[in-house]
Amino acid sequence: MSELHPVIRPRRLRQSPALRRLTAETRLHPAELILPMFVREGTSEPVPIGSMPGVQQHSIDSLKRAAVEAAEAGVGGVMLFGVPETRDAVGSAATDPEGILNVATRALVAEVGDALVVQTDLCLDEFTDHGHCGVLDDAGHVDNDATLERYRDMALAQAEAGSQLLGLSGMMDGQVGAVREALDAVGRHDVVLLAYAAKYASAFYGPFREAVDSQLSGDRRAYQQDPANRREGLREARLDLDEGADILMVKPALSYLDVLSDVASISDVPVWAYQVSGEYAMVEAAAAHGWIDRRRIVEETLIGARRAGADAIMTYWATEVAGWLR
Ligand code: PBG
Repeated sequence: MSELHPVIRPRRLRQSPALRRLTAETRLHPAELILPMFVREGTSEPVPIGSMPGVQQHSIDSLKRAAVEAAEAGVGGVMLFGVPETRDAVGSAATDPEGILNVATRALVAEVGDALVVQTDLCLDEFTDHGHCGVLDDAGHVDNDATLERYRDMALAQAEAGSQLLGLSGMMDGQVGAVREALDAVGRHDVVLLAYAAKYASAFYGPFREAVDSQLSGDRRAYQQDPANRREGLREARLDLDEGADILMVKPALSYLDVLSDVASISDVPVWAYQVSGEYAMVEAAAAHGWIDRRRIVEETLIGARRAGADAIMTYWATEVAGWLR
């Protein structure tokens, strides 16, 4: 009898849009979306990024316009990446107050700094002529502790430019502690540190390399994490919490929802996910062929990250999705 006529009927709550809306466990909100943006030195027009349709390397002017658009859509923040004209072994442009990232930060803070949180990527890969996230030792390996010195200087330059939140994405050991100490030493207790706690060496960053004209020829497996490792994600997260991170990030999103869930379960600070360039490119490419329902897939990937434990998500669709949510 009960096998033919169940007493417990989960479908009851799914029968109408109104009931589904009322009983949704997770939702998206514009304030929980962060837009990553690229700004290119020496261009007066935005330059399209082939592998990321709809995303540009901005000029300062188009950057400001796009940030205003994001702010008007209610997006919670923008994360800025610089594309310099010249690069060298130590990434000098990263610490130069007149370097493109610092110039653009000042422009953005003046334009939208009250409406959303202006954030900057703190990493050397866009600025080095070898494309690695740090400086190299004599053997050509990324030198962890020498890189920390560069990150400290970069943090001071970015804070001076007005960045409200620094995204530490380089995966050097001790980077959060080093940057925190450097900021504290000059009394900049106000600057928020986002630790890319668990960042995996991922092929999903492919289109980003085009986006920043990356000079990298090898890979980042000697500092970013092995995709095989789940426990290690927790270990990295705990270290960053101990070093004083204000927010933790897991990256990429789609293939690392288990790690995101783990980190969210132990964290007492906000946990963010980064839906990276390759995740964006895959969906755009399949949608362009008419193979998938673009809007539903975008919403599903974002709600999936929220459900797994992300409080906020960095996504190249931030402004568009915020518009849908109005
Ligand atoms: C490092 C950095 C990268 C991304 C964000 N910060 C590149 C990398 O680690 O290789 C990738 C983001 C994306 O793919 O959307 N500065």
